[in-house]
Amino acid sequence: MITGSAGFVGYFTAHALLRQGWRVIGLDALSDYYDVTLKARRHAMLEEMPGFTPVIGRLETPGLLQQLFAAHEPRLVIHLAAQAGVRYSIDNPASYVQANLVGTAELLEAVRAHPPAHTLLASTSSVYGANTEMPYTETHKADTQMSFYAATKKATEAMAHSYAHLYALPITMFRFFTVYGPWGRPDMAHFKFTKAILNGDPIEVYNHGNQQRDFTYIDDLVAGIIALADAIPDPKAPVPGDSLSPVAPFRVVNIGNGTPVKLMDYIAAIEAACGRTAEKIFLDAQPGDVPATWADTSLLEALTGPRPTTDVHTGLQHFVDWYRSYYRV
Ligand SMILES: NC(=O)c1ccc[n+]([C@@H]2O[C@H](COP(=O)([O-])OP(=O)(O)OC[C@H]3O[C@@H](n4cnc5c(N)ncnc54)[C@H](O)[C@@H]3O)[C@@H](O)[C@H]2O)c1
Repeated sequence: MITGSAGFVGYFTAHALLRQGWRVIGLDALSDYYDVTLKARRHAMLEEMPGFTPVIGRLETPGLLQQLFAAHEPRLVIHLAAQAGVRYSIDNPASYVQANLVGTAELLEAVRAHPPAHTLLASTSSVYGANTEMPYTETHKADTQMSFYAATKKATEAMAHSYAHLYALPITMFRFFTVYGPWGRPDMAHFKFTKAILNGDPIEVYNHGNQQRDFTYIDDLVAGIIALADAIPDPKAPVPGDSLSPVAPFRVVNIGNGTPVKLMDYIAAIEAACGRTAEKIFLDAQPGDVPATWADTSLLEALTGPRPTTDVHTGLQHFVDWYRSYYRV
């Protein structure tokens, strides 16, 4: 069972599992947060693969998840559906309450009624908030979220931990670090910058370019998700540097590249991939944004072994090539 299967990460995760021969139930509301055509196209590609069952609906529709879990008894649950985006959460908090809090509560109830072997839920590097100790490590305190989006994701970590403890449900929480790649999200920087550069429009550079992010290429992220599916948390079997709960089969794991990249270097890589230079409008930092992210990925490696780490030049070239062919520009 994959929730958010028409989303950027959900599409690639479902695709990888279908290729491995899994049967996948994909739930998605096709919400209109960004271009619905992109989501419908992703689902349509999955529907061409054997073993995919699409379900269009909202997580928080009473009884929907219970009914799906009763009908399919999923062995593995990967919960990716969410209202994402830091900036949108400033003006639209209610949408985050519904999708992320109510939706995740519904999911956990369905998991409780029909326990899978392993449930994995998406959280975000944004939960590290105002932390300044780098790289971000799962065992660091993360109590100072700077956006409502991050706050709802931190809340889902706490909700999931309580279910793991009370009902002995093995649960892994991913903390994803800025994911990019083909079929990516139109609200994210790589998409907006590429669109503007190819249109000949100026780009807006926040915090005067003084930001850095640990950018994760989609294929590397999905490899991490799939590898972690086999790493079922067992409180009796910790690995070095583990974030395992002392009272529940529950852990939090960063999935990032492990290399912070300066925003201006990221923009330069997009310019190189587009073969054009951008006109830049430098602006102040945006509310809710953190100045830097950097993933400590040693726990991911301890659990899953060596992992792919695509550099931004290669990854952004793949993105720009996809963008040009998809939008015919
Ligand atoms: N992409 C990133 O850089 C990134 C970084 C950190 C965390 N995450 C998290 O990873 C997950 C996947 O992100 P993504 O980039 O694929 O986002 P996305 O917006 O492309 O995918 C999320 C999908 O969930 C669906 N959805 C939203 N609300 C729903 C609801 N109430 N019921 C059912 N479906 C609903 C949307 O239609 C969408 O297709 C999210 O939980 C997000 O918060 C993403």
